[in-house]
Amino acid sequence: MKIKQSEFVISAVGPSQYPEDGLPEVSLAGRSNVGKSSLINKMLLRRNLARTSQQPGKTQTLNYYKINGELYFVDFPGYGYARVSKSEREAWGKMIERYLRGREPLKLVLQLVDLRHPPSAEDQRMYEWLSHYEIPMAVVATKADKVSRSQWPKHVKIVRQTLGMPGHVPLVLFSSETGQGRDELWSIIMQSAGI
Ligand code: GTP
Ligand code: MG
Repeated sequence: MKIKQSEFVISAVGPSQYPEDGLPEVSLAGRSNVGKSSLINKMLLRRNLARTSQQPGKTQTLNYYKINGELYFVDFPGYGYARVSKSEREAWGKMIERYLRGREPLKLVLQLVDLRHPPSAEDQRMYEWLSHYEIPMAVVATKADKVSRSQWPKHVKIVRQTLGMPGHVPLVLFSSETGQGRDELWSIIMQSAGI
């Protein structure tokens, strides 16, 4: 995919603010700090369009980015951030659930997990939930640059086994440092979005 144009559109707090042009949407779910915003920046070859930080829990809204006037990336708030209050967590859950179950232009969810560690209980719940509702998805294992290549197969196996992924669900090894996995992920996205 040649990126001709990319822009931040809106930080939506609810459905009334979601775009209405019907363009396909690709959403990113994953725990706080897993690298969702960094992945968006790498995919778009932008340094800091999606805000990243060392401080987890920063993204609290659904952040829409428009690419080439053809599709949206939707950056979700990260889950599993301990310092978020229970009521905030519940509000988060409701917003995401409503979006995932009812959003017609949603074409693909990228579930991000950290390649270095086995997926957490929350990662497993998210995966099961997406599978249960038959939401088209791909798993992206981030921070691949932090694991030596010789160890990749072992880590990939742990991710697949822990999530209980059937062979047909794609798993992409990704690094927003090196660009590893970028082309592969673009081809999955374009196919799912029908562009
Ligand atoms: P929230 O917005 O809090 O949910 O976090 P996020 O998932 O958007 O994570 P973000 O992209 O802000 O990245 C968190 C930290 O991990 C930052 O310090 C990034 O530089 C770092 N990081 C993200 N992806 C990679 C990667 O592929 N490799 C390495 N080495 N570091 C990464
Ligand atoms: Mg973020």
